[in-house]
Amino acid sequence: MATMRLTVNGKTQTYAGDPDQPLLWYLRDTLRLTGAKYGCGAGLCGACTVHVDGKAVRACSVSMGTLAGRRVATIESLEQDGRLHAVQQAWIEEDVAQCGYCQAGQIMAVVDLLRVKPNPSDADIDALTNLCRCGTQMRVRRAVKKAAAMLRRPA
Ligand code: FES
Ligand code: FES
Repeated sequence: MATMRLTVNGKTQTYAGDPDQPLLWYLRDTLRLTGAKYGCGAGLCGACTVHVDGKAVRACSVSMGTLAGRRVATIESLEQDGRLHAVQQAWIEEDVAQCGYCQAGQIMAVVDLLRVKPNPSDADIDALTNLCRCGTQMRVRRAVKKAAAMLRRPA
């Protein structure tokens, strides 16, 4: 394919590989950004969730050929100048993670949720379709509410 450019975590990248390659492979194997995880590989579990142009997407199901000029952000970009994102901070305070495998995807999905719903209801949170085999859903709920409150507070 023709060379194309995209940005990943604010850095311009040039890509000239297979347009059908899933974004998740590129992030993990080429850029060594291993926060997004491979779970089902079929768009179902959410372990691979990243943002494209600010919206949560499943990186296993997005082809590189669709990303010319787009902005990709991974969990590695959330911390800024040594400060955790409010969602990460709330995750720590609520001790959400168990094995941790799903957690980067959960956090990226929640950052997008709070962008569109700054005061989410339990139903909004439960509508997230990221799976957790360790059963952290109740702690996810508490952490989302805590993060929402942090983000609403003036800095
Ligand atoms: S690995 Fe992408 S949704 Fe499961
Ligand atoms: S913390 Fe283990 S799968 Fe979610």
